[in-house]
Amino acid sequence: MKYYPWIVAGILLLTQTHVESAEMSPNEKGVLWSQKMQDLYTTLADLLTDVASDQRFKNPKNYSRIQNNANKLLTLTHDMDRSEKIPDGDPTLPIVGNILHSNLEQAATQLKAGNRAYARTILRSVPGYCIACHTRNMSGPQFSKLPLAPKGKLSPLERGEFFTATRQFDRAQKEFLSVIQGSAEGTGIWDWDSSIRQALSIAIRVKKDPDQTKEIVQNVLKSPIAPTFMKDDAKTWLSSVQEWQKESSRRTPTEDGLYIEAARLMDKAREIQKYPMDRSADVYFLRAGAVLHELLQVAPKGQRAPEALLLTGIVYEVMNPIQTDNLHEIYYETCIRKVPHTALAEVCYQRYEKSVYLGYTGSSGTHLPPEVRKHLSNLQKLSQPESATKN
Ligand code: HEC
Repeated sequence: MKYYPWIVAGILLLTQTHVESAEMSPNEKGVLWSQKMQDLYTTLADLLTDVASDQRFKNPKNYSRIQNNANKLLTLTHDMDRSEKIPDGDPTLPIVGNILHSNLEQAATQLKAGNRAYARTILRSVPGYCIACHTRNMSGPQFSKLPLAPKGKLSPLERGEFFTATRQFDRAQKEFLSVIQGSAEGTGIWDWDSSIRQALSIAIRVKKDPDQTKEIVQNVLKSPIAPTFMKDDAKTWLSSVQEWQKESSRRTPTEDGLYIEAARLMDKAREIQKYPMDRSADVYFLRAGAVLHELLQVAPKGQRAPEALLLTGIVYEVMNPIQTDNLHEIYYETCIRKVPHTALAEVCYQRYEKSVYLGYTGSSGTHLPPEVRKHLSNLQKLSQPESATKN
């Protein structure tokens, strides 16, 4: 089910170039977007009721409701990649909206074809996409309590994810914390690990709250089930939080101010990281990510935007927030297309190429399909200085 990032990047570019003519006022956009989001919320609550339960999902009486809800989500996400419809200029919105929409297309098709188990796996992953957009940073509304929730038995992790997907962040944190503290029944290591990642992401990016972050980290340190490597990570997280607590909260929300702040946090993260996928620098990566999204929101066409795309890609290469899709590759590719034939494009290409090679490398070597090879070669040409591609 691997998604082809270049299709996303291509569509992104197309939609970005022919939109300026049909601008809506920011207010109109906001109202339409909120309405769409509210519809996503009611549909998701209903859909997860069926999807979370084996029994309900397999009961033929529920088939048509499940299909209808999947179709509804499909329709609602249909123009999420159209930049004239989205509330801010961060390319993350069309990138994530696009991947979500095409996954829903798959789910709807598979349901119709009777491949229900496969469709269910995709539908269960939907909250992850809502979360990817909603936890970029502090922007957007937060709700203390919305009336609807999926009925039936969800695990605490699933409830936390539903609440995050619907921007009820305080309720989500309670669920995640219950898993981290081990007080939720039947907690496996996967749920535990995932709850830590999500709780940290909310505390750091959405709440921007060092005290809440510290509480989460201390719970990891105290946990009887934490493996040693995780406790080691948590010790480093704790010292990163302590440094954060000492910082003054000066803010310069200009493009340059944000860029300087993001670059500083990325340097810190790189000082701490011992190997490429080391998670001990997560506090800094998450903080940098929030600032980078803010930069892309404030100045999506600014001078710093291409480099912000590269840095966001690096952050997501470590975080890997949506397991099935190589989100970071889309940022690298978007960077190349934004500033072709420049030194920065070459750096973005190198990261892209390395990631693709790793993705196609297994125990028997590297096997790049011909269309991937061709795409790499096109991107490489696009990244190199123009003189290098003429001969
Ligand atoms: C492409 C990114 C993206 C995806 C995917 C997405 N959202 Fe949103 N959502 C946003 C943004 C951005 C806002 C805040 C807009 C603003 O700044 O006011 C928002 C706001 C909301 C709101 C608040 C609406 C209001 O103003 O009353 C709800 C509820 C919501 N989303 C639910 C969902 C659910 C449920 C899903 C998944 C099925 C989802 N969203 C998927 C980007 C996204």
